[in-house]
Parts: sequence; structure tokens; C-alpha cells
Amino acid sequence: MHSVALEAPDDFAGWRAAARALVIAGIAPEHVSWSSPADPPALLAGPPPPEAPEDAPAPRVPRAFPELAEQVIRHRDPERFALLHRLLHRLQAERGLLEVASDPDVARAEAMARAVRRDAHKMHAFVRFREMRVAPGEDGARFVAWFEPGHHILRAEAGFFRRRFAALRWSILTPGGSAHWEGPGEGPGEGPEGGEVRFGPGARRADAPAEDAAEDLWRTYFGAIFNPARLKTGAMLAEMPRRYWRNLPEARDIPRLIAEAPARVAAMVERGATPPAPRRQRTAHLVSLPGGRPDDLHPVAPSRVGTAAMPHAQTQADSDVPAALAALKREIETRNDLPDWAGQATQLVFGEGPPAALLMFVGEQPGDEEDLAGRPFVGPAGRLFNRAMEEAGVARDEAYVTNAVKHFKFAPTGKRRLHQTPDAGDITYYRPFLEREIALVAPRLLVTLGATALRAVTGRAMPVTKVRGNVLRAPDGRLFYPTVHPSYLLRIPDSAMKAREYDRFVEDLAKAAATARSLPAAA
Ligand code: URA
Repeated sequence: MHSVALEAPDDFAGWRAAARALVIAGIAPEHVSWSSPADPPALLAGPPPPEAPEDAPAPRVPRAFPELAEQVIRHRDPERFALLHRLLHRLQAERGLLEVASDPDVARAEAMARAVRRDAHKMHAFVRFREMRVAPGEDGARFVAWFEPGHHILRAEAGFFRRRFAALRWSILTPGGSAHWEGPGEGPGEGPEGGEVRFGPGARRADAPAEDAAEDLWRTYFGAIFNPARLKTGAMLAEMPRRYWRNLPEARDIPRLIAEAPARVAAMVERGATPPAPRRQRTAHLVSLPGGRPDDLHPVAPSRVGTAAMPHAQTQADSDVPAALAALKREIETRNDLPDWAGQATQLVFGEGPPAALLMFVGEQPGDEEDLAGRPFVGPAGRLFNRAMEEAGVARDEAYVTNAVKHFKFAPTGKRRLHQTPDAGDITYYRPFLEREIALVAPRLLVTLGATALRAVTGRAMPVTKVRGNVLRAPDGRLFYPTVHPSYLLRIPDSAMKAREYDRFVEDLAKAAATARSLPAAA
């Protein structure tokens, strides 16, 4: 009998070295017992496997095996090491083994890998950092989360949190270990690119803060998106299993929301449909579309603008829009399926402005300066935009300003980060979040700046020049006004043309503002 004591429960490198040596030495899996600090001690002690001779050919495995094994090794089942050893052993004679889904070893390994992936997914979604009071003399805040993973996934998943929360100092505490990130550093090898997450011993729930100021934001947000008419308790529990509830601020409201759902649905039926908002005033600032307009975007005739049935401003009447916006921002920040390139950005840049703004501007995506500042339109295009707004008589702080895409997409070139235009997939990915942001702000009029924003609002690619300067109705019924992006003005080389185009832009802003003022509030 041989025994192998691994250094950690997820020690893949240690398992691989030992398993290779065992296979090369021809030692059968039933003659080996495995252990790790988090698993039951080996029942039978024996010598470690013999060292493999330097020139021994390495065991051959299909490409899919290492990836499968790396996931299986994180499963909490103490049998995992022996199962993987058995698979490795069998693969030497049964080359196509992994394709035999009905094989009990293969099926078990696949099920374990699935459970580990599900656990990682839940960790991305349900880790909740809470601000911890810093010790005297310590700089800046630290955010600490308590999480109880089902498997040994902390070390594998720490990179996700490092990329997503690179600018914060954070710790994730779990019963089996802890991970700590000190935020971006100064020296080589430090910071979001080169720094390392430090791992430490396990902790207790009481070591993490139980509450912080964001608690109510989560609860308000959850309350705002909870739709009693769509309640499917089974599906909800599958998405948000009870074992995570203890650590989710919003979970304490779930039993009440479920209990109240039937009465709320009955009240909704009783109330019936909300009538459209009454007409207030007509606008005098609409022009008709030039020829060749896209057939399902209808210019809204002046006489119809006032009666336009605006999409309902959600049912936000009794909820807190700033809190729901903040929670939406957090939701995007913590997603685990962001486009790959988004991990390179410093941070998510969300919209800003009064939550009940008449006008909402949608740009393309944050640029270099916005990415560093965490605010939209603060770089060169933003400064030009501010100047044009001022000349158009619109105070920037009266408008809500956001972007279609919420992360800076760039190509690193030497010291510069070169802006990359978001592609159709990027726009589609962020579109549902933009739609929810628009629904929360419920502006009277949206202004799309440039082609990306136009595509994000309409769902279609089309030239801005074809529709610029018209009040249009988007497929969802919202009124919007397309114009150019301020960075287009920055790129015009000819100064006379630049001045003309700038004046047109100011005119567009003034027209959009006058239109918005003439429209009734969203119902
Ligand atoms: N360009 C945009 O579209 N948005 C910004 O926030 C900055 C530049």
C-alpha cells in the first residue's frame, strides 16, 4: 500500500505529480490511499510512490482530461483523488474512455465537475462584501465577505474577484481558508496586473461584518425587481438556494414577498391597466424624417408627441430609484459573464445624474479618463459635451448621462490604451442593463449620441445621419432623439467644418431639451 498526503484539498499540482509517478510505476489505484489537510486521514499508511525515472514517458491523456481533473479536484468528496487516479490509470489502455458518458467513473467525474462549476457560479453571484471599520492608522476601507462554498473553490475563484474588484482592498473569509487582496500597488509585480492574492487560514462568520450601509440598497433593489405576477418559487429557489440566504441581505425579505404575492397580484388585476398620461403641451421642435427611413422607427408627428403613450416608469412609484440604480450597478459589477475584455477595465462606469431627469443622454462607452475616474463623459469628449450643453441652455446636472457599454474597451499599445469600438455582441450584452437603467430613470426623452447608442436603443444598426434631429419612437415605445457623438466633432480636421458641425450639435441639444420640456412626465 502507498499513501499520498497532498498539501491542500485542491492541490492539483501535487496530485498530478504523484499520480504520474504511480502510473509510470504501474501501481494500481486500489493500492493507494490519498489524503489532504481537509479530508479524512488515510486509513492505511504506507510509503509514498516511488520517484518516476527522468526518462520515463509521461502518461498520455486526452486534452479534456486535465481540465476535468482540475475541476474534480476541487470537489469536497474525499474519493476524488482516487477516482482521478483510476481514470488516469484506465486512460492508458482505454483511449476514448472520456467519451463514454455511461461509464460510472466518467459519469461521476463529470457530475463532480458540474457541481464545482455551479458552486463557482453561485460564489460569483452571492459573495457580498461589507465595509469593515479600519484599524487606527490603517488607510482606506477594507471590504470583507463571508462565504460558505460547497467545494474547495476559494483559491481557484479568487482571480475572478481580483479582476472584478481590483481597485478595492478586500478579503473573502470562508470556513476552509481566506483570500486577501490589498488593492492596486505601486511597485513592479504589484497592482491589478501583477499583484498576488494572499491566502490564509479559515475564519468564522463572526470575523466578517454582519451589516453595512449597502444592506438596504440590496433589499430595495430586490424588492423593486421582484414581480409577484411572475413568481415561480421553485425556479427562484434553484437560482438562489436557501443555503446562501444567511449571507444575503435581500434574502430576509423573500418569505414576506412570497407571502404577499397573491394579494399583490389580486390588487394589480383589480386596478387594471394604467391609462396613458394626459396630454399637456405640444412641441414645436419636430422635423420629419428624410427619405429612406428605417420602416419601423416612426417619426413622431408634433400633434402626437404630447399624447405619446410612454412606457410605464416601471412600478417605481413606491420604491427608491437611486437605490435601485446603485443596486443595478452592483449587479453588473458582480456578473460572472461579462465580456472577456471588460476585466481589463479599471472599473464599471455607470450613469449619473438626477434619477428623475427629463433628458437622458446615452453615449458609447467610457474612455480612458472615464475608466480611471469611474464617471461618464469627463474626458475630452465630455468637456466638449459640457460646453455644448451650456450653450444649448441645458445644465449638465439636470440631465442623466450614461453609456450603452459600461466598461472601457481598449487595446494596450505601449503606454496608451487605444479605444476600441464595441461590437454588436458587446452592445447586445449590455443592452438589457441599459434598458433597466432607462426604465428606472424614466426620462421624458432619450438622446442617443452616435451610432453605438442608437443601436443600443433601437436594437438595429443604422447610420446616424439618416435619422439625426428627429423625435423617434423606439421599438419599445420610448421617445428618443438621435444625434452625433461629441468625439465625432473632435475628430473633424477642418476647422470651418468643425465649427459648423459643433453649431449643429448645439442646436440638436437645444431642440432635444425643448422637446423634453414639452412632453408629459412618463406615466
Ligand atoms: N465617450 C462616451 O461615449 N462616453 C463616455 O463616457 C466618454 C466618452
